[in-house]
Amino acid sequence: DSDPLILGIESTCDETGVGLVRGDDLLVDRTATSMDQYARYGGIIPEIASRAHLEAFVPTLDSALDEAGVSLGDVDAIAVSAGPGLVGSLTVGICAAKALALALDRPLYGVNHVIGHLAVDKLAEGPLPEHFIGLVVSGGHSNLLDVHDIATDVRELGGTLDDAAGEAFDKVGRLLGLPYPGGPHVDRLSQRGDREAIRFPRGLAAPKDRDRHAYDFSFSGLKTAVARYVEGARQCGEEVSAEDVCAAFSEAVNDSLTSKAVRACQDTGCGTIVIGGGFSANSRLRALIRERADAAGLTVRMPPLRFCTDNGAQIAAIGAELVRAGVAPSDPGFSPDSGMP
Ligand code: KG4
Ligand code: ZN
Repeated sequence: DSDPLILGIESTCDETGVGLVRGDDLLVDRTATSMDQYARYGGIIPEIASRAHLEAFVPTLDSALDEAGVSLGDVDAIAVSAGPGLVGSLTVGICAAKALALALDRPLYGVNHVIGHLAVDKLAEGPLPEHFIGLVVSGGHSNLLDVHDIATDVRELGGTLDDAAGEAFDKVGRLLGLPYPGGPHVDRLSQRGDREAIRFPRGLAAPKDRDRHAYDFSFSGLKTAVARYVEGARQCGEEVSAEDVCAAFSEAVNDSLTSKAVRACQDTGCGTIVIGGGFSANSRLRALIRERADAAGLTVRMPPLRFCTDNGAQIAAIGAELVRAGVAPSDPGFSPDSGMP
């Protein structure tokens, strides 16, 4: 095979990821996570996450190389998440990547983690289409992107004005007393509830916002509406059905995400939606986007669940696209960019 072997390194948040990709093919994807250390805090502690990356990086790299049956000398180029993310976590992955690039004398690419959430889709479904609308949703980001070439031409159409979708799910989970992170638990409960039992507001649905924020999201008002509903019911001594609250809340979030993604396709004359990010594991998002894309005659591509969570394969995948497009490697002195757009 003549495609270069790309090593991808991920450390934006609490996952230490190492992936090896050749062209559109995944050789191996290894992840270590420090998630289980945060349950008692109800949120990530950056200092613990940085330390965990430091401990996990070399063993994760070694086991990835072992499993793929390759040695470090076989790697042709290295890609690492340069942002957005926690600065301490990013620093560990970037230092490791710089050290490897220097020792092996290979080109190094500092890449955008969020775009990696879309690039990973090619490892499951084959080459990405020429033009697509990307919907990236996770605990840290909710973005609509107009993608003409994933390596060189990605335009941001809109994003969340306040909370990310996963973040809103985690906050509603906490409100209902569910373990951290609440997203998957709220998803599970929502599957047994009645989506129409409660009508929660859709963010930015008012006429004055409809055009100015056609591709933006807002979930903090919704979260407040859920809190008010739950408190109101408890004060009246009424039984709150967590299943119904989760189902109605999930419907409001996913109604906004999917209707705006479809609208972006229609407005740009694009035929394909690609979703990605930790929240793209959400069962209602996957069903509703399929339903609405079908109704609008659009194709929708979604990564398998194992590629939704942060991973090294997504970073190797975007690295492979940069190499394919002939993009110049990063300046060797680049720094982590925790607020990277
Ligand atoms: O991409 P990711 O692993 O990390 C970030 O970059 O944020 O996403 C994690 C987020 C968390 O907020 C988690 O609660 C949420 O994605 N999440 C879900 C589901 N699975 C993960 N939210 C709703 N439904 C799910 N099934
Ligand atoms: Zn992510």
